[in-house]
Amino acid sequence: MTKRVVALLAVMTMVVAACGSDTAETTVAGPTDTAAMTDTVEVFSWWTGGGEAAGLEAMITVFGAEYPDVTFENSAVAGGAGTNARAVLATRLQANEPPDSWQGHAGQELIGTYVAADQIEPLNFLYDEEGWLDVMPETLIPLISKDGNIYSVPVNIHRANVLWTNPTVLADNGIDVPTSMDEWFTALDALQAAGMDAPLALGEQWTAMHLFETVLLGTMGYEAYNALWDGNGDWSSADVTAALENYDKLLGYTNSDSSALSWQDAAQLVIDGDAAFNVMGDWAEGFFREIGEEPNVGYGWAATPGTAGIFQFLSDSFVLAKNAPHRDAAIDWLKVAGSLAGQDAFNPVKGSIPARSDGDRSLYGVYLQSAMDDWASDDVAGSLTHGVVANDSWKSEIDSSLGAFLTNRDVAAFQAALVASEAANA
Ligand code: GAL
Repeated sequence: MTKRVVALLAVMTMVVAACGSDTAETTVAGPTDTAAMTDTVEVFSWWTGGGEAAGLEAMITVFGAEYPDVTFENSAVAGGAGTNARAVLATRLQANEPPDSWQGHAGQELIGTYVAADQIEPLNFLYDEEGWLDVMPETLIPLISKDGNIYSVPVNIHRANVLWTNPTVLADNGIDVPTSMDEWFTALDALQAAGMDAPLALGEQWTAMHLFETVLLGTMGYEAYNALWDGNGDWSSADVTAALENYDKLLGYTNSDSSALSWQDAAQLVIDGDAAFNVMGDWAEGFFREIGEEPNVGYGWAATPGTAGIFQFLSDSFVLAKNAPHRDAAIDWLKVAGSLAGQDAFNPVKGSIPARSDGDRSLYGVYLQSAMDDWASDDVAGSLTHGVVANDSWKSEIDSSLGAFLTNRDVAAFQAALVASEAANA
């Protein structure tokens, strides 16, 4: 068996850093004649812009056509990777005011948070009714299940370990796409020598964690990376030190205003030729398409250095709230989220491949077709930043030590903190 995923067993308590957000709730689809409406469904996500909102809207259109009498209430809260949205959601859940359905990542985020806190309903009945066990990947079901209960409906598979490039900048400087960390450093040095101060574009802190997880994987390899999360690894090892040193070195090639940039801002630096590289999940492709860029012209892609043959994945899925105010309409929404029509409308725009195995390949662009091929053949590792491998408690501790590291750049202190956070959360 070449395809394996990290085992997910731990149960956790949610730790949420409260932060501001724009919580505007907009009704974006549904009939306009309110007198005719019989129901509403409130769906919560963080897809508000840059390719993400457009993907959601495409799925809402499918929903509107199938359930014309249900008003879709789009309660998306802005902020990449859900940094703001998840804090707002936690407050609502605590106050017993859940949206009917919300976006949650397959893996520890789902099982260790919402299932652990008994906030969502099992959906086995829907899997039976809709025949989803025949079309959803076998690797995914354990990540959304506990004690035989299946708790969410995956809409997609995203790839985290993508190196986005500016093909013109690389060609003009005679640089091949790097496949190893050493080749990457050589390329970055050449670009700096040619006058590009910050050839690696970086955004706000969660994007620094995203870069970090790909460097861990690219430096340590598939087995050792996965072992870090399933209790068989050694955070104090020389391998981890080497990864942290690589990460430290890479930060030396990034823009100094990173903390003020969204992921879209950072990706835009590559499009504009102000940077040559950006490491970001393939939702960046949805953004590139939305701003009219052409694949292999405006942007290129490769597995992040050192990770060829490995698909570092995450999956967006939707849940059914316990005591959902509009349970029937929420089930209607979940049926669309799990349907072929819903997934084939959403994913080509969102920049992800369908979770379902029967998606219509011809609807997907050249990048996403390559992702489909890789998903089918690569080894699979889980993302840290996007909820797969660590529960929220562990992830939040890693995030704190990473934040400190971005300021003090003390590799030994960072590694010691990583060791301690595994011990506290394993
Ligand atoms: C991820 C999410 C993606 C995308 C990204 C950037 O956590 O799974 O669908 O939205 O954040 O916001």
